[in-house]
Amino acid sequence: MPNTIPVITIDGPAASGKGSIAQKVAATLSFHYLDSGKIYRALAVAANKRQISAPDTAKLIALTQELTTDPQQLHLLQRDPTIVSPPVGQQASQIAKNPALRQLLIPLQRGLRQMPGLVADGRDMGSVIFPDATVKVFLTADLAIRAERRLIQLQNNGIYAKITDVCEDLAQRDQTDRGRAVSPLTPPAGALHIDSTQQSITDIVKNVIRAYHNAVFIPPSAN
Ligand code: DC
Repeated sequence: MPNTIPVITIDGPAASGKGSIAQKVAATLSFHYLDSGKIYRALAVAANKRQISAPDTAKLIALTQELTTDPQQLHLLQRDPTIVSPPVGQQASQIAKNPALRQLLIPLQRGLRQMPGLVADGRDMGSVIFPDATVKVFLTADLAIRAERRLIQLQNNGIYAKITDVCEDLAQRDQTDRGRAVSPLTPPAGALHIDSTQQSITDIVKNVIRAYHNAVFIPPSAN
């Protein structure tokens, strides 16, 4: 039976504005919100604490199994102050290459599809996790703009970095996320492509909500 609970997916590279847009769309529609990157980041934080590195597949899988069955531990890790840091982002990107680990995270993510609806952001939300999404968005922005936005985000979290380092970090992560064999960052079929370089978050949010209303609008019958 097809799942009729609405889902809006917003995929794109790091710092393209996915998180801000997804949260605002979710708040406007009173939908749930899934930040899938935070799951990979929480795994990276946990792996760090236990000194597990990305190539240690067996230990990573055991850790993923443990965390997917213990939501409280996962929530605690998601509040760790290091979660937003660039090194954790890089580690998350390395961990996310593992196909078995990604497979284990599918039920957790799909389980968040609950009424009245879900807005999910990440890299594979529209392509793999919710291929039947009501609306799929693929968000991009120029690297320089993304680096500026990420720098401000980091500063707001008390992390100070050089713009050149932030730029390099994003470019490297783009390469890993686009180049991996499983669930690479790629525009899902049927996605609405939005470039956020010159557009305000407010305008993009309005466009996404309009696309959602158009998708669910049932025209009155002719008779
Ligand atoms: O969205 P983010 O920057 O917090 O994500 C951190 C990393 O997690 C990202 O570089 C790749 C990985 N990720 C992924 O592989 N698939 C997702 N759906 C979300 C994130």
